Amino acid sequence: MEKLTTAVLGAGRIGAIHATNIAAHTDATLVAVADVDASAAKRTAGETGARVASIDAILSDHGIRAVVICTPTDTHADLIMRAAAAGKAIFCEKPVDLDITRIQACLAEVDRAQVPLMIGFNRRFDPSFADLARRLRSDQAGAIELISIVSRDPTPPPAAYVARSGGLFRDMMIHDFDMARFLMAEEFVEVFAYGSALIDRQIGQAGDVDTAVCILKTATGRIAQISNSRRTSYGYDQRIEVHGSLGLLAAGNRTATTVTRATADGFATDSALPFFLERYAEAYRLELGMFVRAVLDGQAIAPNGRDGFAAARLADAATLSCKSGRPIPLTPGQ
Ligand SMILES: NC(=O)c1ccc[n+]([C@@H]2O[C@H](COP(=O)([O-])OP(=O)(O)OC[C@H]3O[C@@H](n4cnc5c(N)ncnc54)[C@H](O)[C@@H]3O)[C@@H](O)[C@H]2O)c1
Repeated sequence: MEKLTTAVLGAGRIGAIHATNIAAHTDATLVAVADVDASAAKRTAGETGARVASIDAILSDHGIRAVVICTPTDTHADLIMRAAAAGKAIFCEKPVDLDITRIQACLAEVDRAQVPLMIGFNRRFDPSFADLARRLRSDQAGAIELISIVSRDPTPPPAAYVARSGGLFRDMMIHDFDMARFLMAEEFVEVFAYGSALIDRQIGQAGDVDTAVCILKTATGRIAQISNSRRTSYGYDQRIEVHGSLGLLAAGNRTATTVTRATADGFATDSALPFFLERYAEAYRLELGMFVRAVLDGQAIAPNGRDGFAAARLADAATLSCKSGRPIPLTPGQ
């Protein structure tokens, strides 16, 4: 059976995970790994049986059908365009880019080249969140009225990361914007956001926030609310609740074990799993599996470039709302 010959560009935290998952996939072969840091490329290539190669060599290699882009955010748009021009199927980590105009240019190039493009909104593939979405679609909660998403990191990122990140809404809440769109299945027409720097003085000095809430409304009046924080004392806090006309669907945190200790002081369990590498290990495996199968079978891909663009629009609107103190209207389809 044909295997998807694939290369990973960028072998940092997330690149190493994707490389491992491709190498382990029965329908894919990890051929090459590229990284400007030669030691990172060598480590991941050594762990997966791939070879180290430059991005130029990978893009001009007709034996490689797909690339998985895991380099820093400000390189994504350029690499997507180069990979599209080279005729590769593309998986790119979120976000597509920090600038909406560049995202549009990038998607135009992908359309022109007619290559598949998947964006790494991995949370859609988390087994609990995916099941919650399936149940919503089969009407188990009735008509959606209110979606609540809690998404809190255990610790703030380093100042250097914050400076290049595009801010909390474009870097972190982008995942939740995609999840809100995915669950609601109706576009949002208004966005309002509050944000504060309560945790890390350096984040405030960089003009960013580390604590934020966003409220989004659809044309039919359905509401989503997102709560983000860059610090918790109890692990990576990832929860979703959907309230509908027939009832409630909720997916909670995952813990390392299900053991509960009960004493006169109450009930105690493990903390939530530490961070994204642990919490979403299965989601990362499943999303790459979906990419491999969709490319090999020529099926439609989701989340795709349009989803990346739509989430970026919401992030821009939230950033503007947070700065201006005003709700930001959005015209669907623009
Ligand atoms: N979906 C998720 O859950 C998730 C999680 C983490 C990161 N990300 C995204 O993945 C991307 C990478 O994040 P990370 O945390 O793995 O970063 P990282 O810094 O750990 O890794 C990035 C790697 O890319 C390499 N690199 C930098 N510029 C390069 C270039 N021009 N060509 C080739 N290699 C280059 C670096 O040397 C580094 O090894 C970011 O866009 C981030 O938003 C997504």
